[in-house]
Amino acid sequence: MSAMTEPAEKSDTVKIRIRDLHKSFGPKVVLDGVNVDIAPAESLVIIGGSGTGKSVLLKHIIGLLKPDSGTVEVGGMAVETLGNREITEFRRKFGMAFQEGALFDSMSIWQNVAFPLQRLTKMSHGEIDDRVEECLEMVRLEGVADKLPSQLSGGMRRRVGFARAVAHQPEILLFDEPTTGLDPITTALIDEVILDLSDRLKTTTITITHDMESAFRIGDRIAMLNRGKIIAEAAPEEFKRLDDPRVQQFIHGQAEGPLSEEATARKGSREERRGTNEVPDRPEQDGRTSGEL
Ligand SMILES: Nc1ncnc2c1ncn2[C@@H]1O[C@H](COP(=O)(O)OP(=O)(O)OP(=O)(O)O)[C@@H](O)[C@H]1O
Ligand SMILES: [Mg+2]
Repeated sequence: MSAMTEPAEKSDTVKIRIRDLHKSFGPKVVLDGVNVDIAPAESLVIIGGSGTGKSVLLKHIIGLLKPDSGTVEVGGMAVETLGNREITEFRRKFGMAFQEGALFDSMSIWQNVAFPLQRLTKMSHGEIDDRVEECLEMVRLEGVADKLPSQLSGGMRRRVGFARAVAHQPEILLFDEPTTGLDPITTALIDEVILDLSDRLKTTTITITHDMESAFRIGDRIAMLNRGKIIAEAAPEEFKRLDDPRVQQFIHGQAEGPLSEEATARKGSREERRGTNEVPDRPEQDGRTSGEL
């Protein structure tokens, strides 16, 4: 391989490159040197305990959060260097289904799914109507187009979010727990759609999930985030056999193990700081709404 051809080959084999990504919120270190590459058309699954920074990582990829240090490159472009106008253009590449659903409450389901098509494509009203219907059918939600999000169940809203993310056939899909709270059959259906998109449209996909069955089904590769770093990454079959006890505890959902010991140690140090053991441990505040979003 000659040195001349290397850069071109690099950009062919890496769609998203994350290097030494650090992010803290106040004193809380969330990402502490994340390194990971995602190839074009690859389906990467990210797993990790609640609060380990999976959603924060995804938000850096789409430029909703800025790194304290380190870089996120998408198609060779450093996301943190993009200006306001460039970032709007840049986001056209993406479809994202947020963990919180993030549907527009005052808009009908039809309007929600049509929104990216109206904004990002030159499709006619008729074409948009067909595509909205197709996407709702894909997630088995025929007949809800005229309803408002508040009239649907949580699982149905999640499926609408999914339909909206894929509607404009983006190059890159980011799914934050797309199947949490869905029954096993609907979960399998969503998994099928994700697989089909990456096979047929060569979409690069990053999915965060807690559902290990889903993770092994849809991932070409699984990466585990723990204490601010990717501590393991491998293809599903290899991942299952990794002998890291943290990986084994997570994939088998065991209450006892090194991950629980870490959580106990963190709780202990908080109690020490308070100088008493009598204060009940309250869940940590999630600053998402008051943060940079
Ligand atoms: N905008 C923000 N401002 C302040 N803190 C934030 C912000 N976003 C996230 N955090 C904090 O960063 C940490 C990681 O949050 P994140 O939402 O990425 O976790 P997660 O791995 O996605 O967890 P879960 O599996 O529960 O969704 C949490 O402690 C959270 O409170
Ligand atoms: Mg999350």
